[in-house]
Amino acid sequence: MTAPIHLTEPNPHQTLTLALPKDGVTLQGRIQVPGDKSISHRSLMLGAIAQGETRIKGLLLGEDPRSTAACFRAMGVGLSPLDDDWVTVQGVGLGHLQEPIDVLNAGNSGTTLRLMLGLLAAHPGQFFTVTGDSSLRSRPMDRVITPLTQMGAEIWGRQGNRLAPLAVRGRSLKPIHYQSPVASAQVKSCILLAGLMTDGATTVTEPSRSRDHSERMLRAFGADLTVDPDSCSVTVHGPASLTGQTVVVPGDISSAAFWLVAGAITPGADLVVENVGINPTRTGILEALQAMEADITLENPRQVTGEPVADLRVRHSTLKATQISGDLVPRMIDEIPVLAIAALFAKGTTVIADAAELRVKECDRITTMATQLNRLGAKVEERPDGLVIQGEAQLQGADVDSYGDHRVAMSLAIAALRTQGTLQIHRAEAAAISYPGFIGTLAELCGLASSS
Ligand code: S3P
Repeated sequence: MTAPIHLTEPNPHQTLTLALPKDGVTLQGRIQVPGDKSISHRSLMLGAIAQGETRIKGLLLGEDPRSTAACFRAMGVGLSPLDDDWVTVQGVGLGHLQEPIDVLNAGNSGTTLRLMLGLLAAHPGQFFTVTGDSSLRSRPMDRVITPLTQMGAEIWGRQGNRLAPLAVRGRSLKPIHYQSPVASAQVKSCILLAGLMTDGATTVTEPSRSRDHSERMLRAFGADLTVDPDSCSVTVHGPASLTGQTVVVPGDISSAAFWLVAGAITPGADLVVENVGINPTRTGILEALQAMEADITLENPRQVTGEPVADLRVRHSTLKATQISGDLVPRMIDEIPVLAIAALFAKGTTVIADAAELRVKECDRITTMATQLNRLGAKVEERPDGLVIQGEAQLQGADVDSYGDHRVAMSLAIAALRTQGTLQIHRAEAAAISYPGFIGTLAELCGLASSS
């Protein structure tokens, strides 16, 4: 039996202490990851604006979907307790969200704020104010305010209508064809949601394809949608009428990615992550790891309420460096921090380019990953649009900081599996944004009980 990692749960000081035993760890077994964050948000939102009841199984109970639920409750949507096995949403019907009596708070969640904005802007005569935590209040909102304004929306915000808090006066909107300068599912989905309530065809064209969960779910709820994959365009034909559905949320590939990398870099590892969503607009991480010669296989592929799902098996192997750029980037944008951890233990130099979007995530993930990994003795060079990562790193424990970013916190925790000495991760509690239970699973997989 492997000696345990000594592990302390985040305390009020929010620091996670990880120290590997001398003989290392062996990662083996079968695990499940929480529900997909993107699908969870969308099931709550579409349930809220549909006619009738929506039933959701496997909803992510992270802080981000809780923010979505709180916002829609404040607008008159009936929701059962989120930790029920099946969560039920009593839809109010399209255009019937109530004007809330207080500020809507999206917390840390860009998806909540940006998608919701499309709906709010299209509620004529109603007034809404929306805000978020300090991270969200520093993230660009003009990327959705610009197209919504072209549709006739009235939105005001700080710094030239760029930043939250925002104020919205709902209007009757008109359809547009928007050429988005970024491949962003949040931008695309915001416009499509606004388009549901317009009269005519609203089209979004992206420079490359972003995740398509909105398109799949909107169709399942009854919207009339045309998708042209060749031109990366989606059109919604409004006005729509949506009907409540049953949604079974698969495990989040973005959460599974931490274990895929853990398994790939830990000698002796043989792990199966069960029930993971493998929507092709999200599987860039599998392609990138396979290009690095990671031993990952897909088992038991199946369809679950319109989304492809499989069990993912990972075994340790010798990794080689890779190049990540172009269309691959939007298909693995949230997994780049943990891919950087895999790259540290590969042979050769990994180059990540075309990923400037990482700078406007929950934190600046380019600067944060480079500075924090270099504190551990890695050689990571920051570029305006990515990272250059020297492989075969020898990491030494040090104090690092997640900057309140869930994916940074968990990526650094995975680096601990190949770090000598004690690694202290400050603000590690951020993991609960998208992966409550992450630290417990890390503890269990390493052969000891979580001390929470
Ligand atoms: C998301 C889209 C992505 C992703 C985020 C979730 C979504 O953001 O990074 O975690 O659910 O639509 P962008 O649209 O900004 O790329």
